Amino acid sequence: MAFPASFLDELTARNPIEDVVGQYVALTRRGSNLFGLCPFHSEKTASFSVAPDKGIYYCFGCHKGGGPINFIMEIEGLDYPDAVRFLAKRSGMEVPEDAEYRSTYKKQERLRALCKDAARYYYNQLNGPAGQPGRDYLVKRGLSKQTVTRFGIGFAPEGWSGLMDTMTKNGYTKEELLEAGLVVKSQKGSLYDRFRNRLMFPIIDVRGNIIGFGGRVMDDSKPKYLNSPETIIFNKRKNLFALNIAKKSKQGRIILTEGYMDAISLHQYGFDCAVASLGTALTEEHAQMLAKYTNQVVLTYDGDEAGQNATRRAIPMLEKAGLQVKVLRMQGAKDPDEFLKKYGADKFKVLLERSENHAEYRLLSLQNKYDLTVDEQRIQFLKEASELVASLSNAVEREVYGTRAAEAAGITPQAMQVEVNKAYKRRTAREKKRQEQQDLDVASQRQPKEKSLRYSNLTSASAEECILRQILKEPEAMEDLKLLPEQFSAPVLGKAYGILKRCYEEGRPVTLRSLEQDLSPEEMNHLTKVVAERDELVSEQALHDCAAVVRDCYEKTALAGDKIEAMRAMQKSMIQKKGIKKKGTGGLP
Ligand code: UTP
Ligand code: MN
Repeated sequence: MAFPASFLDELTARNPIEDVVGQYVALTRRGSNLFGLCPFHSEKTASFSVAPDKGIYYCFGCHKGGGPINFIMEIEGLDYPDAVRFLAKRSGMEVPEDAEYRSTYKKQERLRALCKDAARYYYNQLNGPAGQPGRDYLVKRGLSKQTVTRFGIGFAPEGWSGLMDTMTKNGYTKEELLEAGLVVKSQKGSLYDRFRNRLMFPIIDVRGNIIGFGGRVMDDSKPKYLNSPETIIFNKRKNLFALNIAKKSKQGRIILTEGYMDAISLHQYGFDCAVASLGTALTEEHAQMLAKYTNQVVLTYDGDEAGQNATRRAIPMLEKAGLQVKVLRMQGAKDPDEFLKKYGADKFKVLLERSENHAEYRLLSLQNKYDLTVDEQRIQFLKEASELVASLSNAVEREVYGTRAAEAAGITPQAMQVEVNKAYKRRTAREKKRQEQQDLDVASQRQPKEKSLRYSNLTSASAEECILRQILKEPEAMEDLKLLPEQFSAPVLGKAYGILKRCYEEGRPVTLRSLEQDLSPEEMNHLTKVVAERDELVSEQALHDCAAVVRDCYEKTALAGDKIEAMRAMQKSMIQKKGIKKKGTGGLP
């Protein structure tokens, strides 16, 4: 839904960019701007800037930028409406929502509050007299007090209605308890607590809301884990355990594990970037979520058949989301939790650094693709395998995997080596050529990074950029610019111009922030770049010259368009004439 403009104006006025960003990034003033370390990519010198007068942030390193809403979208991983709601909450504003949204949102808020209350109950139980079995079990599993607190681990005691009684006393209805999946209805219709005599792990979404639980038995009974069912706030396909903590990690990667206990153990041993899926296979949604917070995912699934299959399935999904995938293999332990206890954090760290890019898996799937007993297929396999091996950046790796491919195809490692070297040379030549082309193509540097926004007419687009920069500084300049949004050659710039023009006419602020609602994050990144990377104020004359360039280019294309039209019309009439002639002559023998 669209939020009213007046509301958004007030929202951005009440959430100055420097305050919003300042809550996440330590900023120091340099001139009229503030600088800090970019929260979106890892860097040692500050290239992340905030311009309070423009109401924007911009990173000269990774080119991310925009207004406060974009910042929240980016850093909290929220969509536009939720980022608006987030800022509204932050500044104590009421969000004007439509009735349907309001009622679902209210319901969700109730369930979130209920889950939080329930977690508190379980936590208190763990630390109370009934919690002895839970505390003993935690000691047995080697979890520290600090870890227990950090993850809010609790305990559901024996008994059928401990939670239900307390929660109804706290004002929640039985329906709400059912809807949150905390109680279950028996066939006879009576209600009882879902979780009994289990250690409780709260599941928290990226925003920090408790949305469900996993409950573990403390002996060998089945099922080992009982999880909350899907509810209006809990979706296993869209949430990962511990991502709320891992998203803030500075370790530059996310470690993906299979089990709650693995993730928790990793955190306790200092790997604050571990997450676990919720007892289901990895989904595309998970992959996309992970890509918001990191570039690299390390898979540490179990070494058994099921774990290896899960790994093979997860790789393409993660790669599709643009992530670099590594696979960590453990020997002497079935999962990270066991490994850490047996061998310690340092050994795990070594494994992590050494974790394989997934060359091995790709090689294996190539092997499966071909029947290596058939010569023709064997040759095709070797061709592809040598390309694959040549793409590895490390010489030792090339040797190891080259040898493996050779063994699979039954040729000597030396012969394989020759093939790999050839492929490697071809590859570097291609790489070099591409680089040269890129360097040569100066114009390409003036193009938007985002492919879908590429300019079709660089001359006009440069003038359009200049106009936008200027009117953002001096909105009055728009008045005697006789220019229409549709005359812009670049759709994104024309769109921005149109919106700013409307803002100006309606007496609303003419700022980049005014665009946040209508432009996509990619478009916003680009516009912020346009504004932030140059800070010139041009003369009135220069501005009019720019407008003239834009009009000129527009007319030329329109003219070209007209010409094409005219030619089409001419062709058409000629064909018709021919037709008539044919008809006319058709009657003759
Ligand atoms: P594991 O059996 O590997 O659990 O299942 P774990 O985390 O290593 O637990 P410990 O070390 O035995 O205590 C991996 C994950 O699969 C889901 C849970 O999410 C678990 O963390 N699972 C497993 C279930 O949902 N139900 C089950 O009965 C078992
Ligand atoms: Mn385990």
